[in-house]
Amino acid sequence: MCGIAGYLGPKDAAQVLLVALERLKYRGYDSAGLAVSEGGSLHLRRAAGKLQALSAKLDAQPVSGHCGIAHTRWATHGPPEERNSHPHLSYDGRIAVVHNGIIENHAALRRDLEADGVRFASDTDTEVIPHLLAKHYDGKDPLQALLRTLAMLEGAFAIAVAFADRTDRLLAARKGSPLLIGRGRDRPLRPGTQERQYTDGGTPWGERELLIASDLPALLPHASEYLPLEDGEIADLGPHGVRCYDFRGERREPRWRPVEITASAVSKGNYDSFMAKEIAEQPEVLARLIDSRLRDGRLVQPDLGIDLATIRHVVFLACGTSWHAALLGKRFLENLARVHVEVDISSEYRYRNPVAAGNTLVVAISQSGETADTLAGLRLAKSKFLPVVGLVNVVTSTIARESDGVLPLLAGPEIGVASTKAYTAQVMALYLFAAQIARAKGLLPHDAEDSCIAAARAMPDLVARTLQLCEPSVEECADLYAAAQATVFLGRGGEHPTALEGALKLKEIAYVHAVGYPAGEFKHGPIALVTRHLPVVCICPRDAMYEKMLSNIQEVKARAGRIIAVGDGADRDLRDLADQVLPVLRASDELLQPILSILPLQRYAYRVARLRDCDVDQPRNLAKSVTVE
Ligand code: M6R
Repeated sequence: MCGIAGYLGPKDAAQVLLVALERLKYRGYDSAGLAVSEGGSLHLRRAAGKLQALSAKLDAQPVSGHCGIAHTRWATHGPPEERNSHPHLSYDGRIAVVHNGIIENHAALRRDLEADGVRFASDTDTEVIPHLLAKHYDGKDPLQALLRTLAMLEGAFAIAVAFADRTDRLLAARKGSPLLIGRGRDRPLRPGTQERQYTDGGTPWGERELLIASDLPALLPHASEYLPLEDGEIADLGPHGVRCYDFRGERREPRWRPVEITASAVSKGNYDSFMAKEIAEQPEVLARLIDSRLRDGRLVQPDLGIDLATIRHVVFLACGTSWHAALLGKRFLENLARVHVEVDISSEYRYRNPVAAGNTLVVAISQSGETADTLAGLRLAKSKFLPVVGLVNVVTSTIARESDGVLPLLAGPEIGVASTKAYTAQVMALYLFAAQIARAKGLLPHDAEDSCIAAARAMPDLVARTLQLCEPSVEECADLYAAAQATVFLGRGGEHPTALEGALKLKEIAYVHAVGYPAGEFKHGPIALVTRHLPVVCICPRDAMYEKMLSNIQEVKARAGRIIAVGDGADRDLRDLADQVLPVLRASDELLQPILSILPLQRYAYRVARLRDCDVDQPRNLAKSVTVE
């Protein structure tokens, strides 16, 4: 977790860096800081708490300069206090470092440095890095100092380094944690000359402004091209432009790519939060995704370098919401393609000794593509020579780059910590992938393929209408139950993952204790929780489990639980049983119904969070990309 940024160019570095941190704060937001190199010194500003605290500090004590680094933190080593905020300075104040990741051998390095008389100012693992750099820096060759320091570090990291005596130089390095370098447009030539136009009166930073960031949106709007650093790569930014090296100091050829997202894709627009915006975007996200998987009205076989017809087993690796999508993926593959499927939580899979049976495909599902546990699971699978496909939203991510094939979600940047549009896109992508495998295996005749496609194509409109339809009841329920201490979510079959996902949303953004349960299992213990004060959300569309679910609702009602049903708003039986109904429309293929059922629960969590005065985009203790174990 944590977000890092750097800037070298004609603009005011602190202002550019503050905007970059704003875009990175989804990666951590318990403290923030920046350092600007100017006039032979590093000017440091740091503040505990949200980014506004740093901004206020900069208003009170501005810094000027054109070269700096910045950080937004999700604490791992040491509480979120100012002294633990990044950047960290070397003992002589000449070097500043920001870091994302964990230095695993920091305790041993710290002991050695302390034995040499270095006094530490923080509890962080990071602080060893600037001290080691200072020991190796002779005032002439920053790159050599970095190479020597990197040779001593164990663990995962992305770092950016600024120097007091260099207002035209930044260094960055990556091992395990993501890091991108950006560069702005080439400056125009003066008419009739070969000279470039500088409005800033000089070229100490080269011909293009240069940036560093943990993620693409933070390079906007300044960068027109970006370069994802590979593991074990260094970038040296200066008047010479960007030079890349490996950790032995050998030159590497940078491969620049155009920046294709716009600044508006990463702004809230007219919404009060990214979460609200991302929930509303779901119809267009699904439409785009479905279009991308069809050509001339038929399913396109994805180009994954894998013969889908030979797949006998699939292992899904995922965490959190992506794991819930994987549970639905299992149903799709079993139903449509008759493939045996295991669904693994990445942090468990990576420490097991999984059997690598033949004809197994591993699918790593991750919105961010940077989740450390899923990445480790992917690497374990690859070490067993299993082919891996990454189902990711961020196609520049590490999981995308390390997978043998990529299934992109095309959901656009998801900034709210609670995953919403990426979840429904994952579910749809898995449905279409199952249909693609079924077709490759000859299990999906033309008319069945037509029905799948028609069912998928109807979903964007059904999603848009369900969002409208359910809102008044969502508001009413949120008003009634916002103060409840706990909420239970029950579902069966495809709605069991919906129950888990509905509970996760409420927990993470509204801080309400919530649990999702398979409704048929509820009577084996948890039903003891039911009292007249407990809201029980029962997901009960008219699917194959409908009758069973009605019986489970009866069991809750008999114990006086408060029933909020998700289902057909016109269903008399359901209305008679439930205290409230959150109405949803009906998908033509019941496999896709969970996409509709989750919508009122996303909105319910959002509204309860608002009523409880919670920050929906940046809930406490969390970060969007979990890049540590
Ligand atoms: O980026 P990923 O999909 O790999 O992230 C996995 C989880 O960290 C993520 O889904 C998390 O559970 C969300 N906060 C849920 O809303």
